[in-house]
Amino acid sequence: ALVSAKDMIEKAHAGHYAIGAFNINNMEWIKSILLAAEEAKSPVMLGVSEGAGKYMCGFENVVAMVKGIHDYLGITVPVALHLDHGSYEGAKACIEAGFTSVMFDGSHYAFEENLEKSKEMIALAHSKGISIECEVGGIGGEEDGVASMGELADPQECKTIAELGVDFLAAGIGNIHGKYPADWAGLNFDRLGEIQNVTNGKPLVLHGGSGIPADQIAKAISLGVSKINVNTELQLEFAAATRKYIEEGKDQQGKGYDPRKLLKPGADAIQAKVVAMMNQFGSAGKA
Ligand code: G3H
Ligand code: ZN
Repeated sequence: ALVSAKDMIEKAHAGHYAIGAFNINNMEWIKSILLAAEEAKSPVMLGVSEGAGKYMCGFENVVAMVKGIHDYLGITVPVALHLDHGSYEGAKACIEAGFTSVMFDGSHYAFEENLEKSKEMIALAHSKGISIECEVGGIGGEEDGVASMGELADPQECKTIAELGVDFLAAGIGNIHGKYPADWAGLNFDRLGEIQNVTNGKPLVLHGGSGIPADQIAKAISLGVSKINVNTELQLEFAAATRKYIEEGKDQQGKGYDPRKLLKPGADAIQAKVVAMMNQFGSAGKA
C-alpha cells in the first residue's frame, strides 16, 4: 500500500540523507520511478503537479494508476503519492482522492493568509493520517505556467509555519525550477542554516533539484534538507534518449514505431537517472 511520507522523511532527516520526490506524467514515468526505487532499495515520493493531474485525467485516476502499477510490479519499498505545489482546492481534492501526502503551496499569498490556510490544511491532512508540506518564500523559475521570482524565505515566517506542525517545509534559498541560468548565484547556505536553526530541526525541502551541482546538494542535505524535488532532469533524460532513438532511425527499422519500443529508451533512461540520484541523495539501501 502507498504510505504517508512522514516516516521516510523523518528517518532521512535523522540519517542525514534525502528522499527524492520525482514528478510523474504518465505510465512510463510511474513505472520507471517505481522500478528504480525497488532496484535501489530506496523509499520514494511520486510528485504530481496539478497540471500533471489534469493531464492524467484527474486525481482519482492518478491514484488508481499508481496503486495499480505499484501492486502489479510487486513494489516492496515505501512509496508516497504526493501532490506537488497544491492549491487550496487541489490539496483538498487530493486528500479526498486518496493521495498519501500533499503540498499546500500558499507562498504566493500574503503571509497571514498563507498561515491561516496552511493551518487548516495541516489539520485536514493529519486528520486523514497523511503527510503535508507547506512553503514559505517563492521558488524561482516557472512550473506549469506559473512563474515566480526566486526569493529567500524569511526565517521567522518559516518558524511560524514550522510550529503549526507541518511535516516538512519548503523554503526558498535561491533555488529555481527548471534549468539554472549560467549566472545563477548558487544556494544560499547561510539562509538555509538559519532556517534549520530557528525551525528547531524541521525537515526541509529543496525544490528545483534539477541541475544543482553535487557539492551543493551534499551541503544542503548536511544542513537539514531531507526531500529533494526533481522534475526537469527526468524530462531532459527522456527527451534525449527518445531523440537519439529516432535520429538513429530505429523507429523505421522493423516495428520500431511500436510505442512499447519507441518509448523504451526514454523509460530506461528515467530509471537509470533515478537510481543514480537515489545513490547521490543517500536514500539508496535505506528501504
Ligand atoms: O516541485 C517540483 C520541483 O521543484 C522540480 O524542479 O523541475 O527544477 O527539478 P525542477
Ligand atoms: Zn517545486
